[in-house]
Amino acid sequence: MDLVSRDKQVIWHPYTQMQTADPPLAITRGEGALLYDENGAAYIDAVSSWWVNIHGHCHPYIAQKIAEQVNQLDHVIFAGFTHEPAVDLAEKLLKILPVNQSKVFYSDNGSTAVEVALKMALQYWHNQNIPKTKIIAFQDSYHGDTFGAMSVSSRSVFTQPFQSYLFEVLFMPVPVVGREQEAIAQLQAYAAHNDVAAFIFEPLVLGTAGMVMYEPNVLDQLLQNCREHQILTIADEVMTGFGRTGRLFACDYLTQEPDMVCLSKGITGGVMALGVTTCSQTIYQAFLSQDARKTFFHGHSYTANPIACAAALASYDLLLQPETEENIKRIAAQHQEFSEQMQDGGFLKNMRQTGTILAMEFDNGQTSYFNQIRNLLYNFALQHRVLLRPLGNIIYIMPPYCITNDQLEKVYAVIRKMKDLTLVNPEL
Ligand SMILES: Cc1ncc(COP(=O)(O)O)c(C=O)c1O
Repeated sequence: MDLVSRDKQVIWHPYTQMQTADPPLAITRGEGALLYDENGAAYIDAVSSWWVNIHGHCHPYIAQKIAEQVNQLDHVIFAGFTHEPAVDLAEKLLKILPVNQSKVFYSDNGSTAVEVALKMALQYWHNQNIPKTKIIAFQDSYHGDTFGAMSVSSRSVFTQPFQSYLFEVLFMPVPVVGREQEAIAQLQAYAAHNDVAAFIFEPLVLGTAGMVMYEPNVLDQLLQNCREHQILTIADEVMTGFGRTGRLFACDYLTQEPDMVCLSKGITGGVMALGVTTCSQTIYQAFLSQDARKTFFHGHSYTANPIACAAALASYDLLLQPETEENIKRIAAQHQEFSEQMQDGGFLKNMRQTGTILAMEFDNGQTSYFNQIRNLLYNFALQHRVLLRPLGNIIYIMPPYCITNDQLEKVYAVIRKMKDLTLVNPEL
């Protein structure tokens, strides 16, 4: 039996309607921005495989560092024990994160990084007997698929079956251009009740919402308002971290500092699963006590897995190389040039960009995750050997930083060609 048939027998894929989805593509190998299928056909991974492979696939430096680590120490329980890669990585992350960040808590993925932040924020107030229990989040946000992360995410078809199990959250509008004052006023109205523990947000770009972008100055103002009302702020940089927005972190565009930061995805260059939640010294201190009940009772079996930390250290080295910064700038400039050319493209609208993320909407009258055009666009790109994963009619490019100009041009060419879809399907 071939691999795809064997897959069908035993596998349940994520975010996939197994009844109607096309069979998956079997990938045998990756190199740089390319993925190779069973027949040797190469696909450009223009979405960095769910936004994680920032340095491309199978980077030899990361592979070598993992190999060294696996022969040295594969894993050790992280309660009561420590190891060099975990400490080294924490020291290094704190060097590049906002300066108020002081402690690093490890977990395994973006959702757990968010769970940890939410629990830390709630327990921070609980430990001080201060009745602050509410969380503010953006209406269209996405913070992950576990219950806490779902609770602070947009109420949507993703969360609908679990609605009654999700805790209540104070939702506010995303401060996109034109809605800034509305968002600020809503946050202030919530803050006035003095019962808000924390505000969690995706800084500058809401990924799953459809690459919805907003400006740093309004986020600064929201953070300032939170500070004035003693509301903790949690920057979910799971998608935006590690160079995506053109700077190392989206928070680097701000003057205010968040109290906590969530990281995952690009942290290991997409090679190992790792989540990180960092916090300020003030938060950490609220857990220090002779009273055992003030302990942060949270941990995962794979917390600070040494191999994942080694991968993250290798990815960190690559990230800070001048060549990577140049690549990020190069991609941003190429995106800008493409979007200027496409301004009067006709079939695309709402072209927008933050750093290496370029998004646009296929104009067929509606903007929605379930827009039927999605499957056409996805398959069209794959037929042209480009992996794009539109969110409904929203097409975006989030490439590995090693993507070449020729490869980028191929991705743009496929998007330009999507115009043909309107001719073949006039009802679109
Ligand atoms: C902003 C943000 N937070 C959290 C998550 C959840 O991360 P994970 O899929 O690793 O659980 C995602 C995933 O897309 C995300 O974009």
